Amino acid sequence: MRKIVLILLSLVGFTCCKETQTNKMAINKDFFGKTKDGIAVDRYSLSNSAGMRVQIITYGGIITTMEVPDRNGIFQDVVLGYDKLSDYEESSPYFGALIGRFGNRIAEGKFRLEGKEYTLAQNDGENHLHGGTKGFDKVVWKASEQIQKDEVSLKLIYLSKDMEEGYPGNLSVEVLYTLTQDNTLKINYKAVTDQTTILNLTQHSYFNLSGTNSILDHELMLNADAYLPVDETLIPTGEIVNVAKTPFDFTKPKKIGREINDEDLQLKRGLGYDHCWVLNEPNIGLRLAAVLSDPKSGRQMEVFTDQPGIQFYSGNFLDGTNPKKNSDEYYPYRSGLCLETQHYPNAPNEASFPIVVLNPQEVFTSQTQFKFSNPKLDQK
Ligand code: GLA
Repeated sequence: MRKIVLILLSLVGFTCCKETQTNKMAINKDFFGKTKDGIAVDRYSLSNSAGMRVQIITYGGIITTMEVPDRNGIFQDVVLGYDKLSDYEESSPYFGALIGRFGNRIAEGKFRLEGKEYTLAQNDGENHLHGGTKGFDKVVWKASEQIQKDEVSLKLIYLSKDMEEGYPGNLSVEVLYTLTQDNTLKINYKAVTDQTTILNLTQHSYFNLSGTNSILDHELMLNADAYLPVDETLIPTGEIVNVAKTPFDFTKPKKIGREINDEDLQLKRGLGYDHCWVLNEPNIGLRLAAVLSDPKSGRQMEVFTDQPGIQFYSGNFLDGTNPKKNSDEYYPYRSGLCLETQHYPNAPNEASFPIVVLNPQEVFTSQTQFKFSNPKLDQK
């Protein structure tokens, strides 16, 4: 009899604990710092019952931390970033940031819309890059939290005024970061404008799934049969080139380091990989865009998006001058990589590329997901 009671009690205990575990979504806020203009910046920590934690600051909507388990359940921060707000303000290569209004490059910082020419900052040689001098990565967003049974979200809002950084229209932007119970971080973008404008929003996290100083042993699959070759200033030439028999073929998982140093004009121009891939199945909405994995740790990240392109940047400009968080060291060359889901670079000036215009009556929406798991990967 006692035995039966004990068994019953343990069963009740088991169900009860499981129940509380599935509901263990949390979001906490703490103070991260003050901008040089004196604006307070908060940090939000989102966590799920599996122990995954994502930290986001209101400055630039920057993801500062993403802790995910390896195949043995050991958690590791898989994104590059800084300890201090001042580092993000002064010298960040867009670590973890939201990018807008127009992610990637616009040739010579000029575009025409409804018969009018617009001039933007030339902040990357002669070109415009990632929204200009003070893009969405350098503004403080308004935050609010939402918690549901199986999801926890941080909503960030920013109003970009008419002609801010040279772009027309008052643009109201909302970014919803959501952490789910299955270790997925969803990013939902929404924007409306009161005048016709252009838009290309993305997220600029630098990933390193291994915790080592290099991403060259990571394996990457890109769901893309073609990519956009670039000129010497990294502006797409307008051609759409098949990846077959080139170092740009990631249609099957391939070590990033395998061909990165090959004699190839496009690799030379990019100083490695710094190109936009043309994702397959552009019209079906959310679909698999990329799979990044680290065979050593067993960590894998799948990227899903509804966007037509993905910029794969292999951290070629990291030069050992950016201080590592929680460390006295610096981030070396190619120690992180970006997978920026987006429209094609320079689309406002390239008639054959998918349109990036947002009209006043429209609501722009888009979604990208980063899903972490530990499938059985071949150990190397
Ligand atoms: C993007 C660009 C790169 C570089 C980084 C930031 O990914 O394509 O060329 O500018 O941002 O350093």
